[in-house]
Amino acid sequence: SVSGNGNGAARGLWSSRLAFILAATGSAVGLGNIWKFPYVTGENGGGAFVLVYLLCIAVIGIPIMMAEVFIGRNGRHNPITSMRLVAERNLSAPAWRVSAIIGMIAAFVILSFYSVIGGWAASYVGHAAMGDFTGGTADSIGELFGGLLASPGQLLLWHTVFMALVILVVSRGLKGGLERAVTILMPALFVLLLVAVGYAMTTGHFGEAVSFLFTPNFGALSINGVLIALGHAFFTLSLGMAIMMAYGSYLGRDISIGRTAVSVAIMDTVVALLAGLAIFPVVFANGLEAGAGPGLIFQTLPLAFGNMPLGSLFGTLFFILLLFAAWTSGISLLEPVVEWVEEKSGMARTGSAVLVGVLCWALGIASILSLNLWSDVAPLAMFERFEGKTIFDLLDFFTANVLLPLSGLLTAVFVGWFVAKESLKTDLALQGGSFTLWYNLIRFVTPIAVAIVFVYNLMA
Ligand code: PHE
Ligand code: NA
Repeated sequence: SVSGNGNGAARGLWSSRLAFILAATGSAVGLGNIWKFPYVTGENGGGAFVLVYLLCIAVIGIPIMMAEVFIGRNGRHNPITSMRLVAERNLSAPAWRVSAIIGMIAAFVILSFYSVIGGWAASYVGHAAMGDFTGGTADSIGELFGGLLASPGQLLLWHTVFMALVILVVSRGLKGGLERAVTILMPALFVLLLVAVGYAMTTGHFGEAVSFLFTPNFGALSINGVLIALGHAFFTLSLGMAIMMAYGSYLGRDISIGRTAVSVAIMDTVVALLAGLAIFPVVFANGLEAGAGPGLIFQTLPLAFGNMPLGSLFGTLFFILLLFAAWTSGISLLEPVVEWVEEKSGMARTGSAVLVGVLCWALGIASILSLNLWSDVAPLAMFERFEGKTIFDLLDFFTANVLLPLSGLLTAVFVGWFVAKESLKTDLALQGGSFTLWYNLIRFVTPIAVAIVFVYNLMA
């Protein structure tokens, strides 16, 4: 508690606005952009879904991101302590910190299974590079993917590799770890993505992908699609997990939170759209199913890579891209809890990172077993709606549908209604009209929208 509300120099700051943007974008850009966005867009009718999604980013995503960064920078501590300090400074109840607690539990749980999927990406880099997809058929590639999921040993190996990569970076701290990783990985990721889009342009089906992504077909959009768009806006910007609070706690005072948050959201959106433009031409060129669901990039794309010129090369590049994206997100999931353990226990950074990382790794084993040995274990089967849901499914469901929206809702209400307007005005540094817009969004629109999705998802 050396720095209080000061400039925080004692605990280290990002060296520039760009460093923060790269780190926050590194968190935001992940499996959500490259794996989930293309397939939910495919399942929900393309352009119309994209339009609603963009609206959700603007009206809900960006305002909450600003609120989270504000809390982190104003508190200058781990998310829980920051929230308590901000509450106390504004004569509000310290209990508001429950929002950060929920977010950090979510981050910890999500990392446990995110690492398992990150491990799939790592294993696919190897498969692609060794030419395992070459000449593949739907059956042979299905077997390869099925074989991975059926093998606790393989999954454990790759989960361990992925978690080790994450721990390695976080244990090296802000500048030598996080900042160094993102300044190498993010530019590499952009280059790889552009190469992938460039390749997609040569397939002769680029125009088809453009019209699929950008022609609104509102007939194909259900209410459910709208709710998915909203939920995804949250997930894709890494909100409700205390991440932006943790990253904001290292942000210099002179930097505009408003402009910075908008930059991060734009970058994340651009990457999602580029990922769509890289993936769908390949899907269409090979007569594959755009709405193939979660298997799209692990089953469908390898089929395409295995049967096209230079497929091993582009397949390898694609899965490296996916791995980098997942890695920088994994780092951001570990950071809030590590920051908290470090400050609370007085343990060094390395010890905290290893401790939290290993616990999270251990929890990940439950998700691994859910895919094979425990695939029949449904702990909440006594409730009809959870019948057949494995531990992995339940962890995913409760974090995405309960913890994230709850944390986001509490954050929005707290910042919108319990923090002094003047302090928000100063910290966000938005121009007059934009501040009023943000203030109205965070007070009214955001909480109502999130509450609707929250209740709907719990009842659906
Ligand atoms: N924002 C990431 C994505 O789009 C997902 C993520 C969620 C990452 C939570 C970190 C934390 O894939
Ligand atoms: Na994202």
